[in-house]
Amino acid sequence: MKPIKVALLGCGTVGTQVVRLLDEQADDLAARVGAPVELAGIAVRRPDRHRDVPKHLLTADAAGLVASDADVVVEVIGGIEPVRTLLLDALRRGKSVVSANKALLAESAGELFAAADESGADLYFEAAVAGAIPLLRPLRESLAGDRITRVMGIVNGTTNYILSAMDETGANYGETLEEASRLGYAEADPTADVDGYDAASKAAILASIAFHSRVTAGDVYREGISAVTSADVAAARTLGRTIKLLAICERVDDSVAVRVHPAMIPRSHPLASVNGAFNAVFVEAEAAGQLMFYGQGAGGAPTASAVLGDLVAVARNRVHGGRGPRESAYAALEVRPVGQV
Ligand code: HSE
Repeated sequence: MKPIKVALLGCGTVGTQVVRLLDEQADDLAARVGAPVELAGIAVRRPDRHRDVPKHLLTADAAGLVASDADVVVEVIGGIEPVRTLLLDALRRGKSVVSANKALLAESAGELFAAADESGADLYFEAAVAGAIPLLRPLRESLAGDRITRVMGIVNGTTNYILSAMDETGANYGETLEEASRLGYAEADPTADVDGYDAASKAAILASIAFHSRVTAGDVYREGISAVTSADVAAARTLGRTIKLLAICERVDDSVAVRVHPAMIPRSHPLASVNGAFNAVFVEAEAAGQLMFYGQGAGGAPTASAVLGDLVAVARNRVHGGRGPRESAYAALEVRPVGQV
């Protein structure tokens, strides 16, 4: 069977793990897909700096790799440009795309889906929200017959790691952030984590899928944790509470309200015991009632697990003739400023 050729864009914390899993699980993946899944190349800014992946696959020419005979483009670079241009080019060429890029999906999902629809390519991005936790597919597929009313939870591992450490050991904010970066949880620019931009992007993606609408990161009310002090954490403790950065997406009549901010929650609440880089998301739907999703929300291997899951899905579609998700922004709900909830 003709192999499915994969162009990998980026090879940092997540990309390195994608390369490892593709190699270690080659036989299983081939059996699950019905064809071998092979790396065609790995685009990185500085090929000389990557000694842990096969040298002959490395290139600095990301655009050339996208234009090559690869069937699928897997993107783990992050940020808006040049990734947006590269992925639009891939989709217009009919190549399926798997992306872990929350900032891009929260800003340009409409444009990317339009390009995918035109060429018949697939666009999957499970790894963009909550790392290893299967969340987008359940919202989009398993709950497709229900009416989701609320999605709420902890979707940023770095800030949860920092707040948990401040709560448990009284550690200060700065030293804990350094540790989160060292462990591979934080973004390249950690202000995206601590100022809530990362969680706002994820909230926009969750709200778009849950409410069949188009919500962008700019629609999300956002407050980060940089103003949370050790004294705040101690005060919460004396009140029997703990501080968590929450993303809250709500359907209010025929509109949607989305917000990200620190909140003091009772220690008896299930979210209070979600510590370290773990994420947890509650979903409320009219018929299903309450559901909770929990797992590792950041880090190389957990995020690579979600990337590989998407890669298997798009590769299977290539081999067996299936088609991935289309944009479901048909409900066109108004996005309501949070003060009006
Ligand atoms: N920086 C992100 C986090 C990585 O801490 O959750 C996973 O998206």
